[in-house]
Amino acid sequence: MSEQDKVYPVNPDLAAKAWIDQARYEQMYQQSIDDPEGFWGEQGKRLDWFKPYNKVKHTSYDPHNVDIRWFEDGTLNAAYNCLDRHLAERGDEVAIIWEGDDPNEDRKITYRELHREVCQFANGLKKLGAKKGDVITLYMPMVPEAAVAMLACARIGAVHSVVFGGFSPDAIGSRIVNSNSNIVITSDEGLRGGKRIPLKENVDEALANPEVKTVEKVIVLKRTGGDIDWHDHRDVWYHDAIAGVSDECPAEEMNAEDPLFILYTSGSTGAPKGLKHTTGGYLVYAAMTHQYVFDYKPGEVYWCTADVGWITGHSYIVYGPLANGATTLMFEGVPSYPTSGRMGEVCDKHQVSILYTAPTAVRALMAQGEHVMDSSKRDSLRILGSVGEPINPEAWEWFHRVIGNGRCPIVDTWWQTETGGILIAPLPGAIAQKPGSATLPFFGVQPALVDNEGHILEGATEGNLVLLDSWPGQGRSIWGDHDRFVQTYFSTYKGMYFTGDGCRRDDDGYYWITGRVDDVLNVSGHRMGTAEIESAMVAHPAVAEAAVVGFPHDIKGQGIYVYVILADGYEPEEDLQKELVKWVRKEIGPIASPDLVQFTPGLPKTRSGKIMRRILRKIAANETDGLGDTSTLADPSVVDELIDQRLNR
Ligand code: WT7
Repeated sequence: MSEQDKVYPVNPDLAAKAWIDQARYEQMYQQSIDDPEGFWGEQGKRLDWFKPYNKVKHTSYDPHNVDIRWFEDGTLNAAYNCLDRHLAERGDEVAIIWEGDDPNEDRKITYRELHREVCQFANGLKKLGAKKGDVITLYMPMVPEAAVAMLACARIGAVHSVVFGGFSPDAIGSRIVNSNSNIVITSDEGLRGGKRIPLKENVDEALANPEVKTVEKVIVLKRTGGDIDWHDHRDVWYHDAIAGVSDECPAEEMNAEDPLFILYTSGSTGAPKGLKHTTGGYLVYAAMTHQYVFDYKPGEVYWCTADVGWITGHSYIVYGPLANGATTLMFEGVPSYPTSGRMGEVCDKHQVSILYTAPTAVRALMAQGEHVMDSSKRDSLRILGSVGEPINPEAWEWFHRVIGNGRCPIVDTWWQTETGGILIAPLPGAIAQKPGSATLPFFGVQPALVDNEGHILEGATEGNLVLLDSWPGQGRSIWGDHDRFVQTYFSTYKGMYFTGDGCRRDDDGYYWITGRVDDVLNVSGHRMGTAEIESAMVAHPAVAEAAVVGFPHDIKGQGIYVYVILADGYEPEEDLQKELVKWVRKEIGPIASPDLVQFTPGLPKTRSGKIMRRILRKIAANETDGLGDTSTLADPSVVDELIDQRLNR
């Protein structure tokens, strides 16, 4: 029997105590499809509303009128729901456990303390001129103040735009320009794996670009005390912003459809797009999925290893867990520092019950052998989660057997920045797992597979993954460019949301995501547009033309392979390869570092000039036998040259 055929049944003891068992899953799923108004009208009550909603669902996928609204006449505040409403019952329980990069540094923050910090910083923001509707950019390390800043924005009705700390000054600048952001919150430096990350310096460099004009204030948290430049007219220390400021701050009454945040993500074409998420539906969905997918029980310690710079951090470190009154662990460092067993050591130290991580992290541990986990027991673990890319069955088994001591179900959660929350995953008390499958849809989610013409395919089959109807957590638009939103997601297959993923469905109706079908790469669970890397490459004077494809990589899932045609006067030398790698790191950030750079005199193009990526992908994967039909190429001989000089042997 192949690994893929293995089934891990639901543990009956777990099911007996779980929020959702199989019967309940089936009954609730059916209701969510038959009567979405009734179903979500009921679920919306898990939040505290200032003014209750009367309208529940108002959604259209018609490409002439894409319009997505949930709970549209209700008002609420996300920070109020994550903080204030917990104070009476669990004010003294821990909201955030912070584990520093250095294992000797940690901090526990109760709901009452977090509430006070958020209110105070919210008042600090107001004092600096922030108001409802402003876009505030966060470029922060993984410290509690990152969550405080997000919630303080939400409290005053400002829209946060978190930029991952691994992005370059250029990437920060373009996001600020695109969103018209007027305040930046950052830190002197970040600390990861014992290394200092020059966050403030990167912000300074971003703002030195004359095209970045909107920023009035930069708030700087002192994290390391490292040397930084200071601009008196603009820079304010975080501790000065809150000094002597009241810790009472009423939560702004927001409409359910007011924006809560913007988060930039890569697509197959053009610059990254700012996905717009709104307040009511997003929070209902983040809270509900956090409770049910992880079967979260009050008092448990829950750890999601993502960074708050990604959607996973937004929904499953901050908003979902805090809306549920959970204890969420926030880790500043990297899983391999100071020892390769750190992840397990943190689980033991804080008695983590639920561990949500990425396949790339599991594979990195797996590559070191089983002893890597010897420094910890991990007896507290109850549930494991995976996100970011398909998890290969070998890594799944290792995660289950070694990290989870063979006792814990794994919830493989498929979703996207655009979806706001988890859409396909095995609820641990309800759905048997198969290693490598995200299994079945969450409540209200209607996946379908379509062929390239958009015909819906039935039964066990493979196709393009679409969603037939909206769910409350869905992104509402692309910031400032609704046409692009419609074009990107609703025009390929009329009346459906297109995910960009390919997928197989088996005889049990289980979904197996096969990866992107567009020109988007998934490198260590991070999404990278090939077009974005190509445009960074051609900005270098030595590069006349570049084509980027992914190739299978043991740890990262996909690696980045770049084919480069040099400009006149440049020689294909090793030093230049290295320089180009550095260049992309500087232009986009370290996460976009090319793994392999091949110089080539030509690229395989059709007679109309279109690059045939299919061929480039095959060569990069070292699968040169089945190249398929190359007869339509303008110059078939370039293929032989490319194969001859290929790097990934
Ligand atoms: C893309 C979305 C959602 C948070 C992290 C990534 C891939 C994500 C899985 C999974 C197979 C997965 C898809 C998706 N993906 N989770 N469990 N199994 N593929 O968010 O950066 O918006 O990327 O990640 O290809 O489209 P993102």
